[in-house]
Amino acid sequence: MQLEWTDSGEAFADRAASYVAGLLAETPAAVIALPTGSTPVGLYGRLRALASAGKVALSSARYVNLDEYVGVGPADPHSFAAFLRRHFLDAPDIPADHIRLLRGDAPDIAAEAAAHDAAVAAWGGLDLAILGLGGNGHIAFNEPGTRWDAGTHVVPLTEATRAANAAYFADGFVVPSHGLTMGIGMIRAARRVLLMVSGRAKAEALGALLAGEPDRDWPVTALCGHPALTVVADAALRPGR
Ligand code: PGA
Repeated sequence: MQLEWTDSGEAFADRAASYVAGLLAETPAAVIALPTGSTPVGLYGRLRALASAGKVALSSARYVNLDEYVGVGPADPHSFAAFLRRHFLDAPDIPADHIRLLRGDAPDIAAEAAAHDAAVAAWGGLDLAILGLGGNGHIAFNEPGTRWDAGTHVVPLTEATRAANAAYFADGFVVPSHGLTMGIGMIRAARRVLLMVSGRAKAEALGALLAGEPDRDWPVTALCGHPALTVVADAALRPGR
């Protein structure tokens, strides 16, 4: 594991953006899984700015999302698909057929999950999974206790996750009871993982990862021993501070 502490929100976003830009320079057609949430917003802004300045090419890569709310379609502004379009994927140089976003309102949700896995497999698997971290240790929507060998599947969301996500919506949107998420098996199979950890609420979950012991109560510990894991974290979360 490569662990990097950053001293400010700016440095955090810059470091993550330079990591992704480095991958795209090396592997322009990389297949990348994208997270939603407050953590990656700065990263997405930086990548778009780098692309506008001609310093990174986003156009050859393929993009998929990690997770989505069940029952919420991509046209709904509360959806993760809409979030990713707003913050990143509407960049002018990303072709529509290089994007595969989960449809939370698909009539057959199991078929939708299988189609997501098939699309990633057809593109040759994930070159990079970019992840945020839940305060309860979740990665994507893989909540504590989730099995570690699954592909994309439906999961019940914990009350902690629903409350954390409700805070992002001022309009009374009720966070659904279930999510659709890429499974830990698929995330672990990514050739590289970039875990972004920001905010004091993540200290215990980060501590579980740093302890280095796989523990199903802390899904993030499924990444222990991954051959190409980079963690970019707030220096405020450094143990002992
Ligand atoms: P956040 O969410 O980036 O909004 O803190 C991360 C997560 O729950 O995965």
